[in-house]
Amino acid sequence: MENFIWYNPTKIIFGKGKHLQTGEITAEYTKKVLLVYGGKSIKATGTYDDVTNSLKKAGVEYEELAGVKPNPRLSLVYEGIKICREKNISFLLAVGGGSVIDTCKAIAAGVCYEGDVWDFYKTLMVPEKMLPIGVVLTIPAAGSESSDGSVITKEDTQEKRDCCCDLMFPKFAILNPELCYTLPENQIRAGGADILAHIMERYFVPNENTDLSDRLCEGAMKALITNLPKVLENKKDYDSWAEIMWTGNVAHNGLLGKGRLDDWASHGIEHELSAIYDIAHGAGLAIVFPAWMRYVYKEHPQRFVQFANKVWDIDTDSMDEDTACLAGIDACESFFRSIGLSTRLSEVGIGDEKIPLMAEKACASRMLGSFKKLDSGDVDAILRSAL
Ligand code: NZQ
Ligand code: ZN
Repeated sequence: MENFIWYNPTKIIFGKGKHLQTGEITAEYTKKVLLVYGGKSIKATGTYDDVTNSLKKAGVEYEELAGVKPNPRLSLVYEGIKICREKNISFLLAVGGGSVIDTCKAIAAGVCYEGDVWDFYKTLMVPEKMLPIGVVLTIPAAGSESSDGSVITKEDTQEKRDCCCDLMFPKFAILNPELCYTLPENQIRAGGADILAHIMERYFVPNENTDLSDRLCEGAMKALITNLPKVLENKKDYDSWAEIMWTGNVAHNGLLGKGRLDDWASHGIEHELSAIYDIAHGAGLAIVFPAWMRYVYKEHPQRFVQFANKVWDIDTDSMDEDTACLAGIDACESFFRSIGLSTRLSEVGIGDEKIPLMAEKACASRMLGSFKKLDSGDVDAILRSAL
């Protein structure tokens, strides 16, 4: 097992009706917030009214920043920084998913920095100070509600980059599975793929002696695989949503990667896809991950045999090693397809024109991955195999 530090300070408030306590929970930290949200969904679902009424009841004032788009843009981050400075705001409240939360994190870093906040995303420089943020989560997917990262897209250069540091952890995250009932099916599918991908990025590692984290990863993957089809069948299945929401959090709160390296090559490749083609992050991962698996599995085949056996219940004892590896990868791709996701670039209208550019951008500052180190030639080959 690798040496590690375990740190995750985000307080999770989980359960039915919990978003109705947003005001009193926020009041423990501040009496004024910038309320940040996306498009129309929170007003259509009633979450906006619930949250703002709760803030008013608790005596918490709020200014608003609406219009965060999926694959959130840097330009709105600048707008948020301006509002915080002009209105003297020192706490941000994100109501939404990964895009809203990541926008809040970027604003929180930018307000406390005299230079351009993009500096933190384009280099390895990390913020020394940030405003605190709180979260009301409306979609289980990105895990940003208790992660140390933020992912932002700079529109003019089509760069999607992340910034990670301990200051990025939100102070609290309110997770009410009932808020998921209104999610459109494409977001349920993409969110599910992202959750599974966060676990797989930590599962496919070159390490040995990782029994506990292997079993935790396998349990989390099974919980997701079992429950996702159930909510696609019945969007008001509270118990299944509760499993998915908690799995989505655990998948990306850092725990599952402790004592081992993690990979993140598939995420690095996908970020190039969503930067250029603006597809949902999870939908991109459902295409990239199976292609990455087939490209790298021979590096450490036993890990893929274990994946086939423990996650997909395949009787690997009766197979040779190569067949067992491919059976697990096929099962994973079939799962994505069974929930309605495409697993080929051509199926979402993406051709080979920009593959060299994406491969070059993905590896511009570093090689990707740890399971197998990838350079731009490898990324090019992976993307071509996904056409
Ligand atoms: O904009 P509105 O109208 O609110 O609609 C949103 C949005 O269109 C909708 N939605 C959210 N909750 C809803 C709802 N619609 C109906 N009912 C609800 N309850 O869902 C759409 C997608 O929202 P978004 O926030 O983009 O989704 P997600 O949570 O998947 O976030 C994706 C972003 O997170 C980044 C991704 O790259 C992508 O930019 N990631 C962030 C990470 C992190 N910070 O740790 C890690 C991840 O790997 C990921 O890279
Ligand atoms: Zn992700």
